[in-house]
Amino acid sequence: MAYTSFFRDTDALNAIGEHVIPAISHSRVMRVWDAGCASGEEPFTLAILFASKLGAFHFRNLDILATDYEESNYAQFADKIRAAEYSRQDIFWVPQAHREQYFEGTENPEVFRLTAPIRERVRYIQHDLLTLVPPETGYSLIVCKNVLMHFSPADQVKVLEMFHETLLPGGFLAVDGNQAIPPPFATRFQQIERGTPLYQKSEA
Ligand SMILES: C[S@@+](CC[C@H](N)C(=O)[O-])C[C@H]1O[C@@H](n2cnc3c(N)ncnc32)[C@H](O)[C@@H]1O
Repeated sequence: MAYTSFFRDTDALNAIGEHVIPAISHSRVMRVWDAGCASGEEPFTLAILFASKLGAFHFRNLDILATDYEESNYAQFADKIRAAEYSRQDIFWVPQAHREQYFEGTENPEVFRLTAPIRERVRYIQHDLLTLVPPETGYSLIVCKNVLMHFSPADQVKVLEMFHETLLPGGFLAVDGNQAIPPPFATRFQQIERGTPLYQKSEA
């Protein structure tokens, strides 16, 4: 099931804005992996969040890799994310000020396109998490929401192990609200705020 939307989880986004962006914004490159991104609303929400918190100088160091395994052979997510076009209904949850700043009109008055600075920060590739081979390494932030719940407990542990290895020391992991981090990770991921599914990889 590939349901998604812009600004879906405001608690997590607030926590990312408060804790993650200030911690990583001075990196030469801020590498973010959105794993299980569906049709792109989530990675573009992250790009908008970073843009709204950072000046243009630091924002251009953001590199979001959005991945999904695409159940069909038809590359629907790839095409959607490359076009970066969404209907009026799709962008309903985007705050008005962000709609005005980060979307532009198209020939169709019901369709809006992310502006070029936002589009340029998001890359998409097809990737199956259960291969357990990360597409790249050295992430400051991994976002994997509403995906792990579809995996068996054993596979969840394997995928979290891959995320842990792929994150930089001190890097962050955002999962969904119902996702408990299993006991093997208790000392390796520290929860940032009670009740918020945002974790930080221990430095050691
Ligand atoms: C409910 S959507 C979540 C989309 C977005 N992360 C969100 O929270 O709004 C779940 C997504 O996980 C993807 N998915 C499921 N199994 C996967 C796998 N093994 N590897 C990569 N993506 C997978 C599905 O294709 C789907 O797009």
